[in-house]
Amino acid sequence: MDISSKPSIDEKALIQQAKDILESNTWEGRYTVPSSNLYPYQWNWDSGFVAMGFAHFDIPRAIKEMESLFEGQWESGMLPHIVFHSKKREGYFPGPLYWQSKNVPEASKKVDTSGITQPPVHGFILERLFNQYPNSQDVKDFIKAFYPKVLKLHKYYYEYRDPNKEGLAFIFHPWASGRDNSPLWDDLVKTIPIGPGDIPPYKRYDNLKADPSERPSDKDYDIYVYLMELGKKYNYDGRLIAKESPFVIQDTLFNAMLIRSNEALINLAEELHIDAKEIEEWNQQSKKTYEEKLWVDELGMYAPYDLQNNKHIKMREIGAFTAMYAGIPSAKRARKLRNYLETLADRDEGFRVMPSFDPDHWIFDPKKYWKGPVWPQMNWLLCQGFRRYGFHGTANRVKWDFLDLVDKLGFHEYFDPRREVADKLEHGYGGDHFSWTAAVVLDLISD
Ligand code: GLC
Repeated sequence: MDISSKPSIDEKALIQQAKDILESNTWEGRYTVPSSNLYPYQWNWDSGFVAMGFAHFDIPRAIKEMESLFEGQWESGMLPHIVFHSKKREGYFPGPLYWQSKNVPEASKKVDTSGITQPPVHGFILERLFNQYPNSQDVKDFIKAFYPKVLKLHKYYYEYRDPNKEGLAFIFHPWASGRDNSPLWDDLVKTIPIGPGDIPPYKRYDNLKADPSERPSDKDYDIYVYLMELGKKYNYDGRLIAKESPFVIQDTLFNAMLIRSNEALINLAEELHIDAKEIEEWNQQSKKTYEEKLWVDELGMYAPYDLQNNKHIKMREIGAFTAMYAGIPSAKRARKLRNYLETLADRDEGFRVMPSFDPDHWIFDPKKYWKGPVWPQMNWLLCQGFRRYGFHGTANRVKWDFLDLVDKLGFHEYFDPRREVADKLEHGYGGDHFSWTAAVVLDLISD
C-alpha cells in the first residue's frame, strides 16, 4: 500500500474516543479492565498494551497500570493472566473463587489471581516508556525499581518452563497463548478424554454478554476447565503439570514476546548501567532455538511445538509473524512472511490484514474469536515487526487496515477480515469499548 491509499480517517476524533475508553475502563484509579462487561478484572498482557496507550497522554497512569498488575506476581516470578483486585463482581467465569490462588504458598499475598500466565510483553513496554520519556527522572526511577520484577518473570520461564534447557518456554493452557480457541490447539485438545465427573459444573457468562456465534464453543470451555483443574491439582506448578498434561506447548507468539522483552531488558540495562550478562546468554540461546526448531519449511513459517508428542502443530497462523518483532528470522525468511501477507491482501476476494488464522484452511471462521478475525494487538505487533525489517509498505498496510476497521466499526475486540463483508457491517465482534483497541489506536496514530 502506498501512502496515497491511506483511508480518510478522522484521527482527532479517534484519539479522543481512545482516551475516553482508557479512562472510563480504569477502576479505582489504578488498573484498567479490558472491557467492563466482558472482562471485569485486570488482564496481564492487555495491561501492558494499556500502559503503552496511557503513556501517550498520562504517564503516571501508565506507571500505575504496570505496578497494579505486578501486585499479582507470585514469589516464583510467575505473572498471572488475571489479577482480581476486586472480589465482588459477579458474572465472570472463572473468577477468584474458582482459581483458589490463596491456597498456593507462593502466590501473591496482596491479591487473588489466576494460576496461568500470558505472553510476556512487559519488558518491551518498559523500554517504550523509557524511549518516550528519556529525560524524565520519574520514569527512570520507576524503570529502575521495576526492572527486577520483569527480570524475575523471565527467570521463572527459564527455570520452570524450559525442561530441556533449550531456551523456549512452554505453556500448559491455551489461554496462556493469548489466542484461546486458536485452531492450533484443536487436534491436541480433542485427545483429552473428559469423562462424567472429570470437571466440576460451571456456568459461562461470556456467551451471554457477547454473541455466542463469536465465542468459543462449550466443548472448548470444557477443555479449559479440565486443564485448569489439572493446574489446581499441582498448585499450578508447570513442572508437575507437564508430567500429566497432554497440553505442553512451546508457542511462537509467547516465545517471540519473551525474546523481544529480553532484548528490551538488555537495551535498558545499558542505559541504566545494570549487568545483563545472564539475559544476554538466555536470549542468544532462545533466538537460536526458535529459528532452528520452530521454522517449518513446508508451511513457509514458524509453528508451535507440541512437547508431549514431539512434533510441530503445522498450521499457518498469526503467531508466526510476531517473530519479526523479536528480530528472529533471517532476511530471507522475513521476506517469505511478508510475501504471504501481501498475497492474502492482494487476492481477488481481498482480506483485511491480518486474519488470525489461515483463510484457506477449512477451520477458518471469520467471526469466531481466534479462528479468523483481525485482532488489534496482533496488528500492532506485526506492524512493529515489518518496520524492523524495513518493510514499511507492509507495515502501513497492517496499520491502516486496522485503523480503518476501528473507524468504521468501533473500538471492538476483534473484526471480520473479509473486506467485502466488513465493509457492509455496522460493528466489530466480541466486546465493545475495548481497552487494548484504544491503546493500539493511540500508538499507531502517533507512529
Ligand atoms: C481473551 C483473549 C486474550 C485477552 C483476554 C482479555 O481471552 O484471547 O488474549 O487477554 O481476552 O482481553
